[in-house]
Amino acid sequence: MIRYTTSADGIVPEMLAGFFVGWADPPTAQTHLKILRRSSHVVVAIDEGTGRVVGFISAISDGVLCAHITLLEVLPDYQRRGIGTELTRRMLGELGDLYAVDAACDAELSGFYARCGMQERRAMVLRNYRRQSGLGARPGYPSDG
Ligand SMILES: CC(C)(COP(=O)(O)OP(=O)(O)OC[C@H]1O[C@@H](n2cnc3c(N)ncnc32)[C@H](O)[C@@H]1OP(=O)(O)O)[C@@H](O)C(=O)NCCC(=O)NCCS
Repeated sequence: MIRYTTSADGIVPEMLAGFFVGWADPPTAQTHLKILRRSSHVVVAIDEGTGRVVGFISAISDGVLCAHITLLEVLPDYQRRGIGTELTRRMLGELGDLYAVDAACDAELSGFYARCGMQERRAMVLRNYRRQSGLGARPGYPSDG
């Protein structure tokens, strides 16, 4: 049974193993939890049988006009069961009636997002691979929390 929650409350790093598959320098579970806490919106899928987080989606919104879906991942053993679609559907509901909700993705996933009601557009992105783990000082950000 999968339970969906829109808060990171009650989630501890031990529940967050196995994410960022294929990343060369992935965030730790502690950093992952920090990402969930600092995002303006999250939806988390928890396997009630094991207590593990098996999928999550995060977004940042200005609450006025725009939001950006920042991360979406379902653990490999739980993929292709509709969890990613349900996370996205719930996130779009959480974000509400904004003018713009954007998600940058690889071309192979455009069909997935299109089935969630989004349209394909071109996106420009910047990736600083030295910072892929999210570790290190961030001027202007609180050190924790
Ligand atoms: C993308 C992702 C979140 C989808 O989660 P999911 O729970 O498997 O999604 P659903 O079961 O709701 O939908 C599955 C459908 O998504 C599409 N899909 C999922 N992964 C895909 C992939 N790697 N390539 C192409 N299509 C994919 C397929 O159409 C699939 O339908 P099918 O099983 O009938 O072929 C999951 O594959 C994942 O975590 N991928 C790695 C991280 C990632 O790419 N995140 C997105 C960043 S923008």
